[in-house]
Amino acid sequence: MHPLKTRWDQLARMRRCTQRPGPVRVRAKTGQERIRVSTGFGGLPYARMGDHGGGAYGSQYHGRLELTWTNKDQALLWSEDGTYRWVPPADYRVAEVRLLHDAGQVGEVGPASRRAADNLLIRGDALNALTSLARIPEFQREYLGKVKLAYLDPPFNTQQAFDQYDDALEHSVWLTMMRDRLVQIKRLLRTDGCVWVHLDDQEMAYCRVVMDEIFGRENFVATVAWQRRPDPRNTARHISTDHDYLIVFAKNIQDLQFHLLARTEAMDSAYANLDNDPRGPWRRSGITARNPYSLGVYPVTTPSGRVVPGPPHGTYWRFSAAKLKELDEDNRIYWGSDGRSGPYLKRFLTEVAQGRVPGSVWPPDEVGYVRNGKEEVRRLIGAVFATPKPEKLLYRVVTISTDPGDVVLDCFLGSGTTAAVAHKLGRRWVGVERSADTLTTFAIPRMEKVVAGEDPGGITSVAGWTGGGGFRILDVAPSMFAESRSAVVLADWAVNGELAEATAAQLGYEFRFDPPFCGSKGRSLLSVVDGLITSEVVELIAASLEPGERAVVCGTAVAVDADAALKAVSPGSRVRRIPASILADYRVATRRLFHTREARAAQANLDVNGSPPVSPPVESVRP
Ligand SMILES: C[S@@+](CC[C@H](N)C(=O)[O-])C[C@H]1O[C@@H](n2cnc3c(N)ncnc32)[C@H](O)[C@@H]1O
Repeated sequence: MHPLKTRWDQLARMRRCTQRPGPVRVRAKTGQERIRVSTGFGGLPYARMGDHGGGAYGSQYHGRLELTWTNKDQALLWSEDGTYRWVPPADYRVAEVRLLHDAGQVGEVGPASRRAADNLLIRGDALNALTSLARIPEFQREYLGKVKLAYLDPPFNTQQAFDQYDDALEHSVWLTMMRDRLVQIKRLLRTDGCVWVHLDDQEMAYCRVVMDEIFGRENFVATVAWQRRPDPRNTARHISTDHDYLIVFAKNIQDLQFHLLARTEAMDSAYANLDNDPRGPWRRSGITARNPYSLGVYPVTTPSGRVVPGPPHGTYWRFSAAKLKELDEDNRIYWGSDGRSGPYLKRFLTEVAQGRVPGSVWPPDEVGYVRNGKEEVRRLIGAVFATPKPEKLLYRVVTISTDPGDVVLDCFLGSGTTAAVAHKLGRRWVGVERSADTLTTFAIPRMEKVVAGEDPGGITSVAGWTGGGGFRILDVAPSMFAESRSAVVLADWAVNGELAEATAAQLGYEFRFDPPFCGSKGRSLLSVVDGLITSEVVELIAASLEPGERAVVCGTAVAVDADAALKAVSPGSRVRRIPASILADYRVATRRLFHTREARAAQANLDVNGSPPVSPPVESVRP
């Protein structure tokens, strides 16, 4: 017998003997890593897990059902070569809000001052881009709580290397990578929005549990199975896996509304108009039900005079005799071609739902095969992308979950299928891709052709697409910090106006250049000095404040009396030294975020200020 099974049985027996519920833990070794599935409270109803007070066992209930993994409390730093490495969450390289720099535009876009409202193609890591969309006020206004659909088709972790990207992460790294991006996506989603994560068997089950944790189990909608290939692979060792999964979660299940799919011909062909009813085609349906109904047992006389003594044994007429008479007078009851059978109800095609609820199995004749996606990209671009999805698949995802004008987000854009489909369907879109090669070889040329009306493939004809619109290309800017002699300092490019803009982004100020200020947040104004802040400097700045306003004055060096001098003339204003005070903010913010028991334990290993020992010390001046 499997050792885990034996241990489980033992625990179950102990439980039954003592009649004491309690946590059960199962440990499994997977290669180098330790994955622990904590089942929380084996044998107890799920509903009791949150029961902390009262009851015979009240004091024993703690914890929650969750998936734990190696370094779950850590963050990941990505490198241009596609690899990740573990860093503490407060590390400036992951906590920083990166600026988004203009890198080009295609077709018609709005004014530069409203660039965030255009379709956006962002080059950079998904986490950086999502953080910028959520935190920089200019983008925050357009995207925080405004995204209707997020479709994510990340590397599945198949342990292969594709031509365009590597797909072989350590399991814990993959989970952390997804968790951190999904947490940001949740913030960006509209209250009636939803997220679809496209995976295969490699990580689907684990990702589902992580999503339970992030979105709440109650917001789970369905796991769709898409049959990706027509026939099983005969070379498969045991079973040919022919489908992918799309895990669907709502931000709030009670607010989520999906559109129906178009009715099929087969569904409509069941309707005919046997009696030329002016209300059009209908189909007959029985009028008996199993639920007891006190007025549902009575004899019925058909138009031919035949008496039906009552509903079949164990069933009831669904209508009272009076209601049946009323329906018959309205020619809604069918008695058979000779008036001897029935009664049946006439269900009119015009009165049934004008669509079909999407099912959880998506067949390729409706949404395409994986090879259709490859063919669409190859025909349009003349190059082969390893893992594009067919436009028909995205057509279904986008049409059931959004309306024209809604914002669609894909932060693993690849060849640009989501952007192409969203554009052709008149949705606003944001696509993020970290490989510059993939963008320049696939996504940008593809979207240029879509905009120019030069993409005849995919869903072009079904969407009636003839071209138009446009998009902006943005680059995730480099970090505003650098390291010099093991200290964190400002990067060389972060000077003057650039320093002001980057500082405004970190502190959540709307960047607006109006000397001596460069940003505003309500009645608080930001001033950034690339140099020493003295008492004279702060007095000059304070003189520009209107009554009721206060200032945050940041400088790369601060004279000892500057803060007191500012507070003396403008109580509520303050002086901050950069980068030290920004780096301290990251530590405070991540301490708040990582408040779980595990995170606290991990933080105990940090130094007394909560700074990670691996991070270099902070210096407040340039090298
Ligand atoms: C499976 S492909 C997406 C395919 C896409 N759905 C299509 O139809 O072409 C995954 C893509 O995500 C990109 N990617 C991987 N990790 C990323 C990250 N952290 N941030 C942004 N893009 C990433 C890869 O470069 C790759 O192009």
